Amino acid sequence: MKSILDILSGIETEFLKGNTDVISLIKLDHRKVDALCEHYQELDSVAEKDDVLEQIILELSLHTTAEEELIYSLVDSQDHCHTNEAFEEHHVVKLLLAELRKMSASEDRTDAKVKVLAELVEHHVKEEESKVLPKLKGLDVNLDELGQAFSNRKEQLKKPQNLVQPVEGQSEKASKAPAKRKATPRRSTASKPAGKTAASKIKATKAPTRKTASTKTKTIVAKAKTRAAKSKNRKAS
Ligand SMILES: [Fe+2]
Ligand SMILES: [Fe+2]
Repeated sequence: MKSILDILSGIETEFLKGNTDVISLIKLDHRKVDALCEHYQELDSVAEKDDVLEQIILELSLHTTAEEELIYSLVDSQDHCHTNEAFEEHHVVKLLLAELRKMSASEDRTDAKVKVLAELVEHHVKEEESKVLPKLKGLDVNLDELGQAFSNRKEQLKKPQNLVQPVEGQSEKASKAPAKRKATPRRSTASKPAGKTAASKIKATKAPTRKTASTKTKTIVAKAKTRAAKSKNRKAS
């Protein structure tokens, strides 16, 4: 049986082929999550499933937050309707992730919840790749610089001080409350000290702000936004 790392690095080598533009990087993330969800459904061992589930939660949490901050904010001025829909789909994804963080594959509903998550993500990815991402090409933005900013932001979000946004509608107080564990904790987290696993680092306990982005990332995104605004003005005139 392949390890999670083998699966992810195999997809990266096969799919990316040296491309560094933001559209390729986003699509790579999509393929990774799809492969992880498929892998999860094929496994029998609860311990292995829990490890894959943790990776799915990590990948999706980083991806959705970086995408909302850097990509949707740019495309929104061009296509508010589709970005609004994408934000809503992310919202539902985050609700499912919040529930899955407290669950183990040993529980009856977990497989079904992961399946529903995979179907939701599949639908979202289809629309995003066909309706949202192509808009970036019409914005006169440097897609390689934006790709760098996207990767940088995801790396930043892995740090404990830059935790992912709470689910929209969740109060700050609620978002800071520690996640309740089920009676049967997931093996992968039970065997590791609290706060040490990658997924636990990004549990929704504090909303990040744009201030947490590095100066370099902020500069790249500011330049992209300026170019996008100029591009929009040119088209309007
Ligand atoms: Fe995406
Ligand atoms: Fe998305």
